[in-house]
Amino acid sequence: MEKVIAYTRVSKSVRDKLQEDYDVVYFENYEYIHDSRFVQALKEASGIIGLELKVTKELLDLAPNLKIVSNVSVGYDNLDLHELTKRNILATNTPGVLTDTVADAVLGMMLATSRRIPELDTFVKNGEWKEFLRLEHFGVDMHHKTVGIIGMGSIGQAISKRCHLGFDMDVLYYNRSRKYEVENKYNAKFYSLHELLMESDFIVLMVPALPETEKMIGEKEFNLMKESAIFINGSRGKNIDEMALYRALRNKDILAAGIDVFEKEPVEIDNPLLTLENIVTLPHLGAATKENELAMSTLAAKNLVIGLNGGCPPNLINKELEESVIL
Ligand code: GLV
Repeated sequence: MEKVIAYTRVSKSVRDKLQEDYDVVYFENYEYIHDSRFVQALKEASGIIGLELKVTKELLDLAPNLKIVSNVSVGYDNLDLHELTKRNILATNTPGVLTDTVADAVLGMMLATSRRIPELDTFVKNGEWKEFLRLEHFGVDMHHKTVGIIGMGSIGQAISKRCHLGFDMDVLYYNRSRKYEVENKYNAKFYSLHELLMESDFIVLMVPALPETEKMIGEKEFNLMKESAIFINGSRGKNIDEMALYRALRNKDILAAGIDVFEKEPVEIDNPLLTLENIVTLPHLGAATKENELAMSTLAAKNLVIGLNGGCPPNLINKELEESVIL
């Protein structure tokens, strides 16, 4: 039986199914790397399936039999693609299945920040009803405002749909290429980044983590935003300058922020962002619902099995290897 490493978020039912045909070793949390069991498993593993394992050159040196790394995520900034391709190791992700779930999470952060839901919830639970019912504790409207979406991939499009059709919002977007379908369907307007930052009430960052997107939103960009702007990051922590966000929020240069992702994850407890009232945070769970966890795990397992059997997985990332697979 070939050995497969499953780590962190792979649904149990999917692991059980894989177990029928493979020798699956499961690592539940991020501490695995210090585990000699993990190093031993790497030596023999043909496949890896899971979320956010940093697949570096050093790790690959320990895994001479590896054929495929199947990410249970759409993002793949955890993978050294160059090294994987060089070694003929397939890499796959799970696009599509998570689109609506992540878009819902982004809308949730937009509502939570604009209507200050977590903050007000704390007041209620602390029995401070009378004291807090004042204008200074009111939030701001989301409907009929302008949302600026940076990155108009499938998730950006699902956010546009919700904002335009559900909340009567005007949609602006900035993207590498024009998306005429979104323009036609949701009346989205293609803007320069500069103009988008200046005009939007809500700014949503949804770009992949690439060298060219690293810290793309920093001090200069926060300075361009309105004082009433709400910034949402549903992409990756390294796409923004976290300290610049901290200063912008602390100095009230912008109104609030909602972030699902941090530069360093798990977030460090002394991260200054966590001391602010005008930020709502999530532990990188935008894609994680009970239903979607299963959908992503199932798709990742399908990619894994096809790859292990010598076929071309539907969600192959390193397309250069397409030629080298037999089916
Ligand atoms: C989640 O962040 C993903 O990339 O799927």
